[in-house]
Amino acid sequence: MTLQVTRVGRLNSDQVNSVLRSAMLAPSTHNTQPWLFRCAGTGIELHADPRRILPVTDPDGRELVLSCGAALFTLRTAIHALGFHPATTLLPSRADPDLLAVVRPLAERTPDPKIARLARAIPRRRTNRRPFRPAAVPRSALTTLRHATELEHAWMPSLDAEQCRHLRDLTARARGDQLADPAFVAELGRWTQLGAGTRDGVPSYATAGAPADESWLLQEFGGPGEGTRPDRLVVVIGSLTDERLDRLQAGQALQRALLTATSAGLAASFISPPIRVPSARAELRRLLGCGVWPQVLLRLGYGLPLPWTPRRPLEDVLLETFVSA
Ligand SMILES: Cc1cc2nc3c(=O)[nH]c(=O)nc-3n(C[C@H](O)[C@H](O)[C@H](O)COP(=O)(O)O)c2cc1C
Repeated sequence: MTLQVTRVGRLNSDQVNSVLRSAMLAPSTHNTQPWLFRCAGTGIELHADPRRILPVTDPDGRELVLSCGAALFTLRTAIHALGFHPATTLLPSRADPDLLAVVRPLAERTPDPKIARLARAIPRRRTNRRPFRPAAVPRSALTTLRHATELEHAWMPSLDAEQCRHLRDLTARARGDQLADPAFVAELGRWTQLGAGTRDGVPSYATAGAPADESWLLQEFGGPGEGTRPDRLVVVIGSLTDERLDRLQAGQALQRALLTATSAGLAASFISPPIRVPSARAELRRLLGCGVWPQVLLRLGYGLPLPWTPRRPLEDVLLETFVSA
């Protein structure tokens, strides 16, 4: 049986196919792609796929929800770019917490040129772990990214040079703690440095070196005596509380910020150790000093073009009840 998507509200099946393929290009932890979609009459449902949780790296599924939030923003953007209003309900069912959102394509509208620009960035966005070019990132980039984040109800607190130095030490310690944990290293090994032909996980060509060699993580903050670097921007995306809804919104903010960066020619990658190690996350929260829960830490700069990281076939992320033969 060949699975096909059905029409949803005002979207015909080709348009549904197109917006789902766009949503699947969102970033996800270790490229686990932990999402499922269901076409339910007038709306597209986004479900978390708990089978794709990373038990050691992400035991409470925080990053799983962030990744799904990134897919949700991508879906909304793709629907908007086709000329429909993506009316979105977050966490619509208390009985089913894995149902993260329903997006209903409503009345036709002329696409907002800013959203159309973000939509064009969807297939061009990459996680870029390689060294960045020594070109200064304009100071206005932070303001633009902060605005993008706030539009999705998340926050991007400022980091001064002293905080960046502290963050550098924190990253080194947290990274050390992770690498001392054989279960973490084993899980990292299962999902990264993969050969050709995989449809999930991180292929070896997409990483800067061996799994344990993330030396670029520390270079991003400058040397011990330096402050922030003009050719890097290190930003935190945070939330006021740390519930499922906050994480879903932070994931949408993440993707809005990443697509905004991509359309401005900026590349980005993730610095996760100080957020994944609970004690380091608590320290980072104190360091930020504004009560914000850090959800994602990114470095941004000007990178060189990269090949894309593969995705699973669409059929693999459809809940069967909403497809027709
Ligand atoms: C919440 C989250 C955390 C991530 N953490 C890391 C990380 O610590 N290190 C890293 O190299 N990539 C990280 N990534 C990026 C993913 O590995 C990447 O999105 C995935 O491999 C797909 O590749 P793409 O972003 O180029 O499409 C993270 C992504 C998300 C959404």
